[in-house]
Amino acid sequence: TTNRTFTMIKPDAVEGGHTGAIIRMIEEAGFRIVAIRKTQLTPERAGQFYAVHRERPFYNDLRAYMSSGAIIPMILEKDNAVADFRKLIGATNPAQAEEGTIRKLYARSMEANAVHGSDSDENAEIESNFFFAGTEQY
Ligand code: CMP
Repeated sequence: TTNRTFTMIKPDAVEGGHTGAIIRMIEEAGFRIVAIRKTQLTPERAGQFYAVHRERPFYNDLRAYMSSGAIIPMILEKDNAVADFRKLIGATNPAQAEEGTIRKLYARSMEANAVHGSDSDENAEIESNFFFAGTEQY
């Protein structure tokens, strides 16, 4: 059944000029863009978004990195959206990402890994609301 996932293009990929290439890959894989913005997080808001990781050793670095430049959050729609999008982006660690995945092509490191993808339908909704509550979605 058709459902939704949430993604954001992260600061390294926006700064590197890969926004267009990444969006093209997403659309060619059959995802429809329901909502899209360009914005920048404060360290506080980045920490809120990744609150689930607050006990992890990489949390402070992640907050700093995710607030270091512009990001492009999007809501995407497709059959089996969450699982299919995670296949399209590849493993968190780009060294382990499969050939042809977005992270294999564009990630710089485990942290600066080009894109985020929600890990469940429930988190997709929470993360979508974090950026798009009360805004137009088509
Ligand atoms: P993302 O899928 O957005 O979810 C958590 C983010 O933390 C991850 O991508 C990376 O950007 C970052 N990160 C940094 N180090 C690690 C790590 N060791 N394990 C998982 N995520 C990490």
